[in-house]
Amino acid sequence: MQYQTNDLEQHWMPFTSNREFKADPRLIVGGKGVYLTNHKGDTVIDGSSGLFCCPLGHGRKEIAEAVYHQLLENDYASPFMTSTPGAFELANLVARITPDPINHVFFVNSGSESIDTALKMVMAYHRARGEGHRTRFVSRERAYHGVNIGGVSLSGMVRNRETFTSVMPNVVAMRHTWNADELFVRGQPETGADMADDLARFCETYGGSTIAAVFVEPIAGSTGVLVPPKGYLERLREICDEHGILLVFDEVICGFGRLGAPFASHAFGVTPDLMTMAKALTNGAQPMGAVAVDDHVYKTITEAAPENAIEFFHGYTYSGHPAACAAGIAVQKIYEEEQSFDKAASLSDYFLDGLFSLRDLDVVKDIRGYGLMGGVELHPKGTPGALGTQTQKDLFWNGMHVKFTGDVGILAPPFASEKEHIDEMIDKLRMTFEAI
Ligand SMILES: Cc1ncc(COP(=O)(O)O)c(C=O)c1O
Repeated sequence: MQYQTNDLEQHWMPFTSNREFKADPRLIVGGKGVYLTNHKGDTVIDGSSGLFCCPLGHGRKEIAEAVYHQLLENDYASPFMTSTPGAFELANLVARITPDPINHVFFVNSGSESIDTALKMVMAYHRARGEGHRTRFVSRERAYHGVNIGGVSLSGMVRNRETFTSVMPNVVAMRHTWNADELFVRGQPETGADMADDLARFCETYGGSTIAAVFVEPIAGSTGVLVPPKGYLERLREICDEHGILLVFDEVICGFGRLGAPFASHAFGVTPDLMTMAKALTNGAQPMGAVAVDDHVYKTITEAAPENAIEFFHGYTYSGHPAACAAGIAVQKIYEEEQSFDKAASLSDYFLDGLFSLRDLDVVKDIRGYGLMGGVELHPKGTPGALGTQTQKDLFWNGMHVKFTGDVGILAPPFASEKEHIDEMIDKLRMTFEAI
């Protein structure tokens, strides 16, 4: 592909070192199955399913055709006071795989918007119950809930917060669950459930009746795959129930089969009150997110409003966009027809065996994983994160895409991968790490 360096200047890239990138660009110009093609024509295996959003692989014709036909048939209609059939169909398909009684789906355009929407639903729920004094929110260190003001307020990542100090007050963070004394744990750590008692301590300190909701990623994804200890999520659920606090699972990465089950909620046997989702909802083919809530939350908010009145003063111009719904419907049908979540479950052991085989390398500090999701943490060199950034680039030129956060590489192979693709990924990781 031809391009001029000067042409790269206008696009201000997100979460990117713009100056470095524009001096040494890494453009993706094609994608088919588990492979991407870079601007030099080289093949790059996709070890992170893009940003954890393309489990079916790239270039699926059924999805592209569904979007194409939808745009010709009905490209846009106002989602306020009118709607389109696809939004109902997709909500129905999603509600079929969310745990009961989570049966109501509100569409948004990203994971970040799903978090802001969930925060507002929580506020509306408590207000409808006459408990508008519940103004405190609880999240966790090392949490990532997107980049809107709500998500940044809940964030436990210093670089995502320190520039943006005027965010929501009244958010307290529980400890993260990574334990430096227990490295190379595959699956759920045996110890650490007691860290959920941070929430009980907040209830003692601030009063449980002032806390509106707890937001957690069942597995903290973006900060390096921190798998919850056995009993931890169960304990959070118990404390929330004791104090009338809503539990929100941010399933933006974990949802749609990544853990070998439809949602993390199924994998870990804990049902929240609200779930946020995005990414694999449309296999990344259209921007879309959603919040799914249980019957009680939905009814409490909708039934509190007068007859014929709008019940929830919230929504986006592109909520349930017809093209995104068409992509989502096509994707949900493929998941079902191809039993993609079972495929992810059956590939998990092979993937984790491969990943954990890297532990003999000196540069590797820790490995964690669950389902088709794994984190490889490197010993930092110089400034924290510098090695991770360099390694992500080296991997790219060695023919593999992996998302790094700090010094942790986050692996999330497409479910469309075969064992030989997993082998290729592990070989490329080993070769790149050995050269450090
Ligand atoms: C757990 C979690 N929540 C929210 C988000 C934000 O999603 P988006 O980038 O679509 O706004 C992400 C993105 O990676 C995420 O991992």
